[in-house]
Amino acid sequence: MNLDVRTDQVVQELETLAAFSDVPAPAVSRIVFTETDRKARAWLWGLCSEAALIVRADAVGNTFARWEGSAPELPAVGSGSHIDAIPHSGRYDGTVGVLGALEAIRALQRAGFRPRRSIELLLFTSEEPTRFGIGCLGSRLLSGALDPAGAADLRDGNGATLDQARAAARFSGSLASVALPRDHYHAFVELHIEQGPLLECECVPMGIVTAIAAPATLRIDIEGEGGHAGAVLMPYRCDAFLTAAEVALAVEAAAKGSGAIDTVGTVGVCEIFPGAVNSIPSRVRMLVDVRDIDLARRDRVLEAIQRRAMAIAAGRLAGLCTEILNADAPAEASPLVVDALRRASAEQGLRYRTMVSRAYHDSLFMARIARTGMLFIPCRDGVSHRPDEYAAPWDIENGVRVLAAALARLAA
Ligand code: HGY
Ligand code: MN
Ligand code: MN
Repeated sequence: MNLDVRTDQVVQELETLAAFSDVPAPAVSRIVFTETDRKARAWLWGLCSEAALIVRADAVGNTFARWEGSAPELPAVGSGSHIDAIPHSGRYDGTVGVLGALEAIRALQRAGFRPRRSIELLLFTSEEPTRFGIGCLGSRLLSGALDPAGAADLRDGNGATLDQARAAARFSGSLASVALPRDHYHAFVELHIEQGPLLECECVPMGIVTAIAAPATLRIDIEGEGGHAGAVLMPYRCDAFLTAAEVALAVEAAAKGSGAIDTVGTVGVCEIFPGAVNSIPSRVRMLVDVRDIDLARRDRVLEAIQRRAMAIAAGRLAGLCTEILNADAPAEASPLVVDALRRASAEQGLRYRTMVSRAYHDSLFMARIARTGMLFIPCRDGVSHRPDEYAAPWDIENGVRVLAAALARLAA
């Protein structure tokens, strides 16, 4: 199929979307349900309407833009990703999968293709864990992986609940109405930057994902004694941050010592209380991210970290408690979708390699209710979640071409 992909337009739209940010360019911060997020969503809604798609949003803000097929009663083919961006990050993570899917649909429309199954562009709410501490909030609810009652109680750093935040962004309705049945979609495909260096290192333009690593988030709260930084001599201190420092090194040791290179452990959040230079830290809250492509190994490392943290705290007479916020299973890609992506890549004359996704994505949860697959394009130096994240226009174009060809196959 000869596809007219208007790459300049997609690149321009990515730039426009990046400008909806709470920090100066080139960084992007776009936290879910903020005014910035709401403006970005409204702008995107307009683009979908211009493409004659039927647009709707659910109670948590997952947004669906539908290209009606000739057999609209059949389960549709979905494609999409997220537009929320963690603080001071880049402009391609997630957005390439949303604007790329829109351009894939527009290119198929220009080619005169008429899908038998409807094709639906999805924008998932809150893929990033930034505001509510758990990633893939929208796709978890949509796939039934998160209890709506539990979700309603989620609070952000200012104490606002998910219900209050979504209401402020003008999304209403019961969270229980978000879940979709298993056969709602015939298939789901997500285009995304690799967020790793393999494709670029191997000069391969396309990555076809076979599995998505299993993420887990552990919250660790540490209680010390605090006190005056000048008056309390070293032998008489119980400094919560120093306990946290030893725990952070224990996270690194547990991940490195798992026996496999695939295990990763990160302390991405470490909040010190009271946070004054002349006050000994009395409380620390850490958020630990542990992942692996092997579920049992990941869980062994989680266990080891919790045990070691308890021992470190006991040795320092500090209090410590842990809570697992999420510990998800890995996902396997659907052979139907992998095959469609292989054929589409070959049809477009593009080499590909199969690979694992070490980042998680909304596809991790879509795989619970639909035949799901992912398509990666290279990103410069494998960098992501940083302002210098970059995907070249020709890589974006390749991704859109292969996605469009795969959607055409799956929707025929
Ligand atoms: O953390 C992740 O893997 C994703 O980018 N939210
Ligand atoms: Mn991300
Ligand atoms: Mn992403």
